[in-house]
Amino acid sequence: MHHEQVMDTCFSITMNGKSLQVRAGTTVAVAIVQSGSLSRHSVLGEPRQPLCGMGICYECRAQIDDLLHQKTCQILCRPGMKVATE
Ligand code: FES
Repeated sequence: MHHEQVMDTCFSITMNGKSLQVRAGTTVAVAIVQSGSLSRHSVLGEPRQPLCGMGICYECRAQIDDLLHQKTCQILCRPGMKVATE
């Protein structure tokens, strides 16, 4: 299916100064979880994950490029985006 090929496109962002490969359509919050900077051993989709993913809990806030306190669960990764969780 051609659609799936589009969704499988990967690109890199910068996460806390390190390059991270993400899939197109990945939210920044998921990229943070993938990078391991927030969770000890959480798996994607784990129901115990502390993040609501809905813009309610504010637990996912991070700096994106020059913008502080962005709700990363509401923002999709873009190629070359710089994310800082500290
Ligand atoms: S995960 Fe709850 S506001 Fe983003």
